[in-house]
Amino acid sequence: MKIFADTADVNEIRRLASMGLVDGVTTNPSLVAKTGREYADVVKEICGIVDGPISAEVISTDAKGMIEEGLRLAAIHPNIVVKTPMGPDGLIACRELANRGHRVNMTLVFSAGQALLTAKAGAYLVSPFVGRLDDISEDGMALIADIVSIYRNYGYKTEVLVASVRHPMHIVEAAKLGADCVTCPAKTIEQLMHHPLTDRGLAAFLKDWENRKR
Ligand code: G3P
Repeated sequence: MKIFADTADVNEIRRLASMGLVDGVTTNPSLVAKTGREYADVVKEICGIVDGPISAEVISTDAKGMIEEGLRLAAIHPNIVVKTPMGPDGLIACRELANRGHRVNMTLVFSAGQALLTAKAGAYLVSPFVGRLDDISEDGMALIADIVSIYRNYGYKTEVLVASVRHPMHIVEAAKLGADCVTCPAKTIEQLMHHPLTDRGLAAFLKDWENRKR
């Protein structure tokens, strides 16, 4: 399973990349706004750090604007994947950008039906938001199971990118379900690294070494 960093913080991305943990990056307007920098500048810098799909989201709300903006984003670097929001305009923009040879990540997907339409529109990635479904007492991971099975039934090429990940078990469950990729905040990837028995085991090894017979 591919792991993407869901962040626009280049320092976080560099740290994770140094561990070989970043197969790609996803950004969105909220994440880039936190940096206080221009969207294009941030995305350009990320493309210099990670050699993998880098999602950059359009801000326009109509199909024409999304297509124009998507083309501008795609021109920044060959690794850019244009993120369009789910809905009629997002689907039109997705189809047109895909027809022109660009990769699209359909974002803000919350149902299996939306995911089915996303595949038919020719998206490269579909981003179902599991955490936000959990937040409203719906089962985010059940949606992933549905999408994976629907895509398998028909051999759709669109990859399932589990998004809105909130804790390490979202990542493990996504892998068990066979999702293609998961995009996570740096904090969640770091949480995945730790186990109390690892810490306790290391402390015991070091103590035994210190007390060895000399
Ligand atoms: O990839 C989408 C993600 O950034 C949304 O996460 O935690 O704001 O629901 P969250």
